[in-house]
Amino acid sequence: MVKKTVLVCIILFSFVFSAFSVTYVVGTEASFPPFEYVEGEEFVGFDMDLIREIGKMYGFDVEIRDISFDSLIPSLITGNINIIVAGMTITEERERVVDFTIPYFSADQSIMVRSGESTNLTVLFMKPKIGVQTGTTGDLWVTENLVEAGFLPKANLIRYDTFNFAVRDLINKNLDAIVLDNPVAERFTKTDPVEIVGIIKTNENYGMAVAPGNEDLLNMLNEGITKLQETGKMDELIGKYFK
Ligand code: ARG
Repeated sequence: MVKKTVLVCIILFSFVFSAFSVTYVVGTEASFPPFEYVEGEEFVGFDMDLIREIGKMYGFDVEIRDISFDSLIPSLITGNINIIVAGMTITEERERVVDFTIPYFSADQSIMVRSGESTNLTVLFMKPKIGVQTGTTGDLWVTENLVEAGFLPKANLIRYDTFNFAVRDLINKNLDAIVLDNPVAERFTKTDPVEIVGIIKTNENYGMAVAPGNEDLLNMLNEGITKLQETGKMDELIGKYFK
């Protein structure tokens, strides 16, 4: 009898607990080191640590989903994911469709080439093949300032789903340059035979994003980011990933 009561209690307890533990599905695109990348079977990186820390603070679990960058906003809007954490730049155009948190990181674009070939900035004027990640601010910059301005034939802009493939094509000489966020380019210079030949000052700020009207979640994320900044945890993570 006692045994039975205990069992019922345990079942009831775990039911109540599971009902209270919230899991948020976090969408990212994990070829963007050191913000998000795959190590073994794990999604790791600065962004991944950030959202897991906020989860710890507010008692939610995080389930990471790796999807193509240009599918992140559509997935958020259709409710397939709850939060975007993907080194995503806060732009006016995106702000029209999603709600961003306060900024948590700043970046510019850089022009990355193979190392050891004494390539310089003039590469941009030699009708190069330029790689970008589809739908990123790097894509937007090359499209607006080189292609639409008439400096680069449309066919010379090659769009990739992942930076891993773009970097591989650069090293294989299928590309002459990649335009991508500077902190990520910096990181690739440490792991691959590539170098940075120029910075494009775009003054971008990264934010996490939620579907419009998700005010409680947005407030929690904003509060979380602020707390991480105030407690020095943010600086600790910056030290961990950006040496
Ligand atoms: N900051 C750039 C943008 O928002 C690039 C972000 C790419 N992020 C990624 N996880 N692949 O467009």
